[in-house]
Amino acid sequence: MNKKLYTLMTLLVAAALVLSACGPKASKVEVFSWWTGGGEAAGLEAMIKVFNEKYPNIEFINAAVAGGAGTNARAVLATRLQAGDPPDSWQGHAGQELIGTYVAGNQIKPLNDLYQSEGWLSVMPQTLIPLISDNGNIYSVPVNIHRANVLWYNPAVLEANGVSVPTTIDEWFAAMDTLQAAGVTPLALGEQWTKMHLLETVLLGTLGPDKYNGLWTGATDWGSPEVTKALENFQKVLTYANSDSASLSWQDAAKLVVDGDAAFNVMGDWAEGYFRELGKTPKTDYGWAPVPGSVGVFQFLSDSFVLAVGAPDEEAAIAWLKVAGSKEGQEAFNPVKGSICARTDCDKALFGEYLQSAMDDWASNVVVGSLTHGVVANDSWKTEIDTALGLFVQNGDLAAFQNALVAACKNSGPCK
Ligand code: GAL
Repeated sequence: MNKKLYTLMTLLVAAALVLSACGPKASKVEVFSWWTGGGEAAGLEAMIKVFNEKYPNIEFINAAVAGGAGTNARAVLATRLQAGDPPDSWQGHAGQELIGTYVAGNQIKPLNDLYQSEGWLSVMPQTLIPLISDNGNIYSVPVNIHRANVLWYNPAVLEANGVSVPTTIDEWFAAMDTLQAAGVTPLALGEQWTKMHLLETVLLGTLGPDKYNGLWTGATDWGSPEVTKALENFQKVLTYANSDSASLSWQDAAKLVVDGDAAFNVMGDWAEGYFRELGKTPKTDYGWAPVPGSVGVFQFLSDSFVLAVGAPDEEAAIAWLKVAGSKEGQEAFNPVKGSICARTDCDKALFGEYLQSAMDDWASNVVVGSLTHGVVANDSWKTEIDTALGLFVQNGDLAAFQNALVAACKNSGPCK
């Protein structure tokens, strides 16, 4: 090749490279979630960074809708799905939320081929696969495992009041009596969904894992005296909470604890991601324990991503799912998000003290599923429970609440 031609070709190649880097991206992927702030957005951003590095030609459209636990986002998503305008991929919880809603509605596609090509069957936990499968098809890519039954506390506030970390519900009540008498807000609580979150942990803490599981299979009678007892406990726990709970987000409520304005908060471990984002130090600014009565039990949920039927850009969506399921993606996302990897091969050293303890518990505890975060009940059942809870919070009528829970299990659950 003569020298001139060689120089010309080199220039052409260089120009093509510059153009491909600056020009419009070849395709785009719209990913829908509710991770917009307080520890959640930062986790997602870390995973998007991995995506952008791997797929520079695909534009990432972050379609996140604010509101903890997806309360707003899921309504927006439902409207879009109904209008035939799905995002390419969205966040959905492993369990009944996925199977009873999106799979039942033919809104998401099986991913068995992707599981084969990416070798995920050997790195995703065996306990999780049935929760994302139906009729032999696997329907989502789990990115994490979160723990719901965490009692966050302010160590200095407890110490100043001579209170030790409670392990049973009665110890918890005694601790909160002491704190209340000292003028401290014993329990920080937020908006409605955080009350359902509290309810599920108190049900677990009162009934124990077997009877708690039975609530979702029909083996435990929602009308039984033991459930009455659990609801009485829940009612009592509510009396220790701040009075402005309805107007607080989960972040607002959790912050009361690390700021020393309340002693306890029950919240999933995404709160840890938030505490870190606030620059707080584990064991100093916040401590953690299983919700009283649930020592040795890990009440879990798992965020996963799906492939939409009718995804505008299926290839780009698959690229996103590959990152979501990858070791690199999960190792970037989880230490920031406050969750542990769904994958079993992440490097433990990348995680902080709390998450390392969560890994140990996940591996050794009895595992049960969360109601609020989609594992144990489908959307219609959960909605009925939520409506009954909303009324109960207003009128305090425990018998009516329990009757409504019995009816909800008959209408939408396994209690025929
Ligand atoms: C859950 C979700 C978590 C976290 C939390 C608070 O439903 O699984 O990842 O986002 O809501 O918004």
